Amino acid sequence: MPRIFSFKEFMHGSEEVRKYADKHSPVIICASDAQRNEPFKVKVRIGTDVKHPNTPVHHFDYIQLWNLETLVGEVKLNHSEFGTDPLFIESEFTIIPKVSLRLTALAYCNKHGLWGSEEIFVQVKD
Ligand SMILES: [Fe+2]
Repeated sequence: MPRIFSFKEFMHGSEEVRKYADKHSPVIICASDAQRNEPFKVKVRIGTDVKHPNTPVHHFDYIQLWNLETLVGEVKLNHSEFGTDPLFIESEFTIIPKVSLRLTALAYCNKHGLWGSEEIFVQVKD
C-alpha cells in the first residue's frame, strides 16, 4: 500500500514546507449539490497558490477521481504536452450521479509520490 500524502500533514510546517505541499495537493472544485441522473462537472486542480514543475524528470503522471472506493475517472498526463514551465494542471470529469457522492482525488508526482485531496461531499437531489 503506497503512502498517500495530503496538505493537512504539512499545513503547520514552515512556509517552504507548506509551498511544497500546496504544489502537490489536488483540490476538487465542484458544486455542493447535483441533480440525480444529470451530468455533473468536477474539476481537479493540482496546487492552489504554488505551481508544480513540469520537466522530463519531475512532473505529474496522472490524476484520479474517486467516489469512496470506486474509481470514477483517470487522466494520464503526458508532461511533454504541457510545456516546460511550472503550472497548475487541471482535469475535468463529468459524472452522472445516482446517489450522493464522497469524492476524493489522487495525483501522482513521479518524484514526490501520491497526493490526496480533501474529501468533498456532494448532495444529490431529485
Ligand atoms: Fe513534485
